[in-house]
Amino acid sequence: MGKISRRALLLGGTAGAAAPILHQLIPHRGVHEAIEGANAAAPGGPAHGAAGAVQGGGNAGPTFRQGAPVDHAANRFHPTEMLRDFDWGKTRRLASGRVLREWTLIAGDQEIEVAPGVKYPAWTYNGRVPGPTLRCREGELLRVRFVNGSEHPHTIHFHGLHPAEMDGVPGLGDGLIQMGGETTYEFSAEPFGLHLYHCHAGPLAEHIARGLYGAFIVDPKRGRPDADELLMVMNGFNTNFDAEGNQVYAVNTVAFHYANEPIAVERDTPVRIYLVNALEFDPINSFHIHGNFFHHFPTGTSLEPTEFTDTIMQGQAQRAILELRFPFDGDYMFHAHKTEFAELGWMGFFRVGNGGATANHGSGGA
Ligand code: CU
Ligand code: CU
Repeated sequence: MGKISRRALLLGGTAGAAAPILHQLIPHRGVHEAIEGANAAAPGGPAHGAAGAVQGGGNAGPTFRQGAPVDHAANRFHPTEMLRDFDWGKTRRLASGRVLREWTLIAGDQEIEVAPGVKYPAWTYNGRVPGPTLRCREGELLRVRFVNGSEHPHTIHFHGLHPAEMDGVPGLGDGLIQMGGETTYEFSAEPFGLHLYHCHAGPLAEHIARGLYGAFIVDPKRGRPDADELLMVMNGFNTNFDAEGNQVYAVNTVAFHYANEPIAVERDTPVRIYLVNALEFDPINSFHIHGNFFHHFPTGTSLEPTEFTDTIMQGQAQRAILELRFPFDGDYMFHAHKTEFAELGWMGFFRVGNGGATANHGSGGA
């Protein structure tokens, strides 16, 4: 991308001039032949929800098909591993007795495959989308070193309580961090709950949509009850850069990933989902589970649930902790209760016990 100025790239979303260049960079058509070939070679079995090739939004979205493989090795992150990958950083005890917890986050530019055959020029923290799931305990002192290895200025803006100069927005503190620059954000871990971080450079929608976001979990001092804990960041990709919607939708970036590889959980065991809505351009996202109900803890800032339900919705940057148990073996679908999102990648399955061993939700997975 060396020959394209940052301005030209950023204008590409709204102005006509750079659009033809972007269209050469972004595959947006014609991948379906390869996908169908991969699909035809797949083993048999019922493929729930594999209704055929889907096309994004009717606005020049890519064509892709559930069940075809994505090259996780090339992406250098794997959505199944991401579920339980909590980054606790490095700690040491200060003279005061307080714990200091530290991380380094590096911004970079990286092409990632977000659906079979659909490559997207992402901007990443530590080479992944979403960025690392930063986890700490209430009251600790947190220090986040941010290095900008990308071709564009960025920041990290944390949700939570902190002084203005640590807010990671242009014009406050170190403000925008230029290419090759770095800064350190320092603040206390409060309040407990499920928060997020994201870049706050302008234009904001693009800097978030490109992939610069991640979950930030502050555990309460007395902790939460034991559970199988899972991180789910709901996201999407505006592959034609029209800034009007997304053509690919997912949890943890890869469309249909948890249909192709259902999430294995134990029967009668507490499961805790940390759910974050990082979707840009579409104002509302939602989460719905089949054959079950969950306790809903909005923002995770109270230890008492507000609701026992099977569907919640979230606006941009809203998040919640969901707690549930699965009383029966089998495969249980979860998806956005916005049919369009589900059909464009935002759906998956939990696999409880071995009850679903004969099912094949993505015809490319076996
Ligand atoms: Cu940015
Ligand atoms: Cu925010």
